This record gives sequence, structure tokens and C-alpha cells, in this order.
Amino acid sequence: MTQDLITRKARGERLAMLTAYDYPTARLLDESGVHMLLVGDSLGMVVLGYPDTTEVTLADIVHHTRAVARGAKRAVVVADLPFHTYETPEQAVASARSLVEAGAKAVKLEGGVAKCAQIEAIRNAGIQVVGHIGMLPQRVRIEGGYRIKGKTAEEGDALVADALAVESAGACALVVELVAHDTATRVTQSVKIPTIGIGAGSGCDGQVLVTHDLIGLFPWFVPKFATQRAQVATDIQRAAREFVASVKA
Ligand code: KIV
Repeated sequence: MTQDLITRKARGERLAMLTAYDYPTARLLDESGVHMLLVGDSLGMVVLGYPDTTEVTLADIVHHTRAVARGAKRAVVVADLPFHTYETPEQAVASARSLVEAGAKAVKLEGGVAKCAQIEAIRNAGIQVVGHIGMLPQRVRIEGGYRIKGKTAEEGDALVADALAVESAGACALVVELVAHDTATRVTQSVKIPTIGIGAGSGCDGQVLVTHDLIGLFPWFVPKFATQRAQVATDIQRAAREFVASVKA
């Protein structure tokens, strides 16, 4: 997979990744030509109702990965390693194995230089890894909020160093989250593996979105960078209100 993704990047092909947590969504997105389906730990917010991703468990992601894998015929299923499930290389390999057994073709973990031992160990176990740098949602409580990274030269240099380290550790692609446009472009130009941006501008090799943000299924919070292309929440409420009225009548 790594060589295929590098070749596609060299050809200038753009990658579209969306999150999926269940069978029908995975199947619909797969049939629509989405290249990669991410069983993201954003599950915690948009499906399980937690305030952030930190309470999502490995069992949660395993459960949802099974459903997504049943719906994905062509798209590559990537599953997130949740917070505290990859503290050591050994734990990272064990957690990654359970996601692969559930049907994932690759796992994603958050962190740059600090997580290279884990990335290398997972790769040595024969499992593909997608890196994730920039704003790391699993650190939101530690950092006290979501903030755009890479606005200063120092932060930009650190992100390029993270990207290069993740690439040499063996990752096949790299999610770049909430990073200033110029820095995300610099990161993209520094590595051979594709970068997949979210809130990081148009200079990345691909884009990823939480599907609920794309289709308007989580109206209580929509990130500024997300363009809503459908209003599913409105449709659900209209249909439910019509149903209630018809039953009452
Ligand atoms: O959990 C998730 O959905 C993610 C994306 C925001 C990249 O990690």
C-alpha cells in the first residue's frame, strides 16, 4: 500500500477520505468512490455523545470497524487507535492487531517524533500505519482546547521534523490536522507519502472530513473549515415530525 500511495502522490492524484462508523454509511461512501474510510475516534463525539475523543475505547473502535469493513468493498478501511492504547510499542502492536482482526487495512495513531517507536513496531508486525500530526484531538484536554498549529517558523519546523520522522518510521500516509496552510503545504512537499489534510488548507495531497460535518448530521457543532453539502439532520427531523403528526392523526 505504501508504494501505491507514493506513486499516486507522485502522479498528483488527490485522495478523498471520510469517516464511517456503521455499515450503511460505509457502503454508501464506498459506492460513491471515497478512497479511504476512517473509523475515527471522532466516533466519541458524533456517535457516542462524549465531549471529545478521549473516552473512546479499543472495544468501541473494534465494534465499529467490523461494521464498516462489512460495507467497504473497495475503499481502504483505516481504524483509529484510541487514546492510551499505544503507550508502548508492545501495546501499540497488540491494539493494532485487534483492529486488523476486525477488518481494518491500516491503523492511525496521533503523534510525530514521540510516536515513531510505536509506528515502527506496528510496521514490523506487518500492519500499515497512517500518521497524524498537527492538532492532536487526543491531547485536547492536556492542551486546553483546539488551536491551529504551525503558525510560527518554530512550530512549522517541528511539524516538518514530525512528518519526516513518521515517514521514516514506515507510515504510508499522514493526516495533517488544523495546521496553517503554508506549513501544511511545506509538510506535504517534504515527504513522499501523501498528506491528508483536515482544516489545513488546499496544499495537502488529499482531504479528510468527519462525514457528519459533510452531510449536516451533527448540527450542534460544525467546524469552520467544513463545507456542509447536505442537511441530513433537518431531513430526519422533518420526517420524524411528519411521522409523529400522522400517528397522532
Ligand atoms: O477521528 C477522526 O475522525 C479523525 C479525523 C478528524 C482525521 O482523526
